Amino acid sequence: MMFLEIQKLSKQYQRREKVFFAVDSVDLSISRGDFISIVGRSGSGKSTLLNMIAGLSTPTSGNIRLEGADICSMKDRKISEYRNSRLGYIPQGAAALSNLTVFDNVRLPYYLSKRSGDASGRASFLLDKVGISFLAPMYPSQLSGGELRRVLIARALMNEPDILIADEPTADLDIETTKDIMELFSRINKSGTTVLIVTHELDTVEFGNRVLTMSSGLLTEGTGL
Ligand SMILES: Nc1ncnc2c1ncn2[C@@H]1O[C@H](COP(=O)(O)OP(=O)(O)OP(=O)(O)O)[C@@H](O)[C@H]1O
Ligand SMILES: [Mg+2]
Repeated sequence: MMFLEIQKLSKQYQRREKVFFAVDSVDLSISRGDFISIVGRSGSGKSTLLNMIAGLSTPTSGNIRLEGADICSMKDRKISEYRNSRLGYIPQGAAALSNLTVFDNVRLPYYLSKRSGDASGRASFLLDKVGISFLAPMYPSQLSGGELRRVLIARALMNEPDILIADEPTADLDIETTKDIMELFSRINKSGTTVLIVTHELDTVEFGNRVLTMSSGLLTEGTGL
């Protein structure tokens, strides 16, 4: 059975009088252990696609099966379980909780999924991996955009997700930090997490095993070049 199977997935939006497909009959089969990069121009439908896979937005038609179970028809409790314990999602422009410290922001998913174990130990480990241990006691408003992004990456990895979905996770990072983050994703992928990222930087694509291009809602194999 395919790990994640997307069939004829569409999302229709309406703007003024105009109705259009932001995602247009997308088919995609993802194997466990894949590291997939999606590229494509602004407005081509990448975030719309990821939001549906993350169970945050309902498709107009089509389905998304995770190990055979259709996530679009899951009840609230099941879909929360999927989001809290199997998925690590970093939405585009995601925000940290401003009244929690960096450390508590990272630890948060652990408590939301009522896991037992060393949450503090793992949070410290992840903050070290993304290179911002020294910022643990600070609040989000005291961080730069790139530092904040690394907090969100650490938070998404807190529950050792089966699948990590990240929407332009390195958009506001410098070359060095981007490389560090991509290497971290690569290690996580090698330890068994399936990775799906949207990226604008073509040189981050080499970290994955597969690249897809989104264009006007259509998804095709390759870089489209
Ligand atoms: N809620 C909405 N209602 C109407 N149109 C929307 C909505 N959300 C997105 N769109 C439109 O759907 C299209 C796809 O948007 P989407 O955010 O998926 O693009 P994207 O590929 O992620 O772009 P970017 O690279 O700029 O992040 C765009 O034309 C956008 O304006
Ligand atoms: Mg987007």
